[in-house]
Amino acid sequence: MIIEVKNLKKTYEGEVLTHALKNVSFSVQKGKFVALVGRSGSGKSTLLHQLGLLDTPTAGEIIIDGVKLSSFSEDQKTEFRLRKLGYVFQSYALLPELTALESVFLPLMLLRISRDEYKERAYEMLKKVGLSSKLHHLPKELSGGEQQRVAIARALINNPMILFADEPTANLDSESSKVILTLFKKLNEEIGQTIIMVTHEPDDEKYVDQIIRLKDGVVQK
Ligand SMILES: Nc1ncnc2c1ncn2[C@@H]1O[C@H](COP(=O)(O)OP(=O)(O)OP(=O)(O)O)[C@@H](O)[C@H]1O
Ligand SMILES: [Mg+2]
Repeated sequence: MIIEVKNLKKTYEGEVLTHALKNVSFSVQKGKFVALVGRSGSGKSTLLHQLGLLDTPTAGEIIIDGVKLSSFSEDQKTEFRLRKLGYVFQSYALLPELTALESVFLPLMLLRISRDEYKERAYEMLKKVGLSSKLHHLPKELSGGEQQRVAIARALINNPMILFADEPTANLDSESSKVILTLFKKLNEEIGQTIIMVTHEPDDEKYVDQIIRLKDGVVQK
């Protein structure tokens, strides 16, 4: 199993307590394309953040590739995120002043890879997502679907063990959404990329191997 979740709980403390995740358990095999579905507020993003080491659970355990995440120090978490995980968000989260090529090689710069190598790898990755003719475009010079493909190339540049995507097609028209989902499916089939994708779209379910349904912080059987 690449992901094992045991009795996971997440409670947000504010003026009122929000029990966003209540005793969630499931597992995912390596190489699966998984959809995380459920109504607004059911805990999908919360779960993705716990799995992606972007937040700390209140209770329970997450084991990724045999390693308990709770055993990590903050530095180890940062290192793990940078080397092993990839993220794609609804809002693309591209820096406005960076070109497509620069956005994609930035994570490799942080890993202290040589300039020649990071440029070459970023170019190859942008080619894979069909953007070899847009290397020097800024986000504002790209369509929504193209910006999301840059974000996907950036997420994949470190060959992540797991790719996390939170509603990656939410801001896209149906044609661009199809391009993104087809790209995910291809990555999943061709290189066995494990993908955990949050989605609202019932239509997206036909692309995936496994569906995890959340309702009020509980996995539906
Ligand atoms: N940082 C936070 N502080 C307090 N409560 C939060 C926080 N983040 C989320 N919540 C609450 O936790 C619950 C689950 O939220 P979450 O964002 O995981 O839902 P979601 O399934 O991703 O919804 P959506 O489909 O609208 O994105 C909601 O009741 C939400 O209000
Ligand atoms: Mg959400």
